[in-house]
Amino acid sequence: MAKLSVSDLDVRGQRVFVRVDFNVPLDEKDGHMVITDETRIRETVATIKLLISKGAKVILASHLGRPDGQVVPSMSLAPVGVRLAELLGQPVRFVNQCVGPAVKAAVDAMKPGDVTLLENVRFHAGEEANDPAFAQDLASVADTYINDAFGTAHRAHASTEGVARVVAQRGGRCATGLLIARELQFLGDELEKPARPFVVILGGAKVSDKIQVIDRLIEKADVILIGGAMAYTFKLAQGAKVGLSLVEKDKTDIALQALAKAKARGIQFVLPSDNIVATPVDSGKKDKKGRPKMDLTQPRVNTGDNIPDTEEGVDIGPATIVNYAKILASAKTVLWNGPMGIFEDPRFAEGTFAVARAVAEATAKGAKSIIGGGDSVKAINKAKLGDQVTFMSTGGGASLEFLEGQVLPGVAALQDK
Ligand code: 3PG
Repeated sequence: MAKLSVSDLDVRGQRVFVRVDFNVPLDEKDGHMVITDETRIRETVATIKLLISKGAKVILASHLGRPDGQVVPSMSLAPVGVRLAELLGQPVRFVNQCVGPAVKAAVDAMKPGDVTLLENVRFHAGEEANDPAFAQDLASVADTYINDAFGTAHRAHASTEGVARVVAQRGGRCATGLLIARELQFLGDELEKPARPFVVILGGAKVSDKIQVIDRLIEKADVILIGGAMAYTFKLAQGAKVGLSLVEKDKTDIALQALAKAKARGIQFVLPSDNIVATPVDSGKKDKKGRPKMDLTQPRVNTGDNIPDTEEGVDIGPATIVNYAKILASAKTVLWNGPMGIFEDPRFAEGTFAVARAVAEATAKGAKSIIGGGDSVKAINKAKLGDQVTFMSTGGGASLEFLEGQVLPGVAALQDK
């Protein structure tokens, strides 16, 4: 059943507690924290403006980073409040607490249409522990609860789940924001009865990260295109040599099961026919975990089935790009999750960017294209094609869990229409 939406509610004069996902990347510059990607802030503006227009008192709560129950100044939401005020075109009062007397006083002083942003809820250990007492404290300023934090909806934390329970027990309403509703529409409803052909592109490092998604999508898709390092685990399972490529040797059995299931269902399950390979050479430096850092040298196209022992696969090759683009050209629905190669390195970005272009071209011809969050969104933005696809998810782990068919606690806690 559809969830109750913020659009359905009359909230005039009410204190509306809105859980948003303002977990945005920040970089320190000249002693200040600077937001490097504000997508998640922009995506909540519609819900906040709707609540303002309805005359609600809007109280925003979010986490930022993983401060583990400690106050970590670099993870303060203060810079987000400044940017949000610019985007809304009205003041946003920032309270440097998320519970307690300072919050009560700030909320008591609010008038309909005012917006208050609370400090990072993860500065309290009770947030991640979903501590009932902490949830009560958060809920003490809430008449109504809205969850618009799709990116955190897979977490059963106090502000994503506990508060909803408290508000509902008191007879208050708990509804989706506009962003969550759109995420559920595109990652859920639109993929239930997709216009066909339905082409799924899956990439990323590990088969084990995506196997449940693969398993579920084999039942819905017409074609699955595989890229990224996970392709080498499939290749290894088929008996090919993969050289020094990143593989999960212990996951070849699940790879074979997926291939067998795809065959039994008569869907096309396509692996790269060629790839870009490079030779890893010890740089003499160490990475963050103290392991030797490798330089990837001498990139070249590898057309054979096997990758030589001294080389590593780093991207899909030109023939694969042509084939994938041809398949995507006739798609009516596209779902993309995971890059085709190490796109952060410009030498190995072409496969990912070419797929991004093919997805944008299919969209221009009328296909619905849904980008499943995380690295694929980063890649499509890097290719400057973010405005040429139908929908980009703001979730990383949440999108994946939802695509796996899992119930998201942050959504389950909301009331049905
Ligand atoms: C995310 O960025 O995926 C969400 O904000 C959730 O963050 P978390 O993985 O720290 O819970």
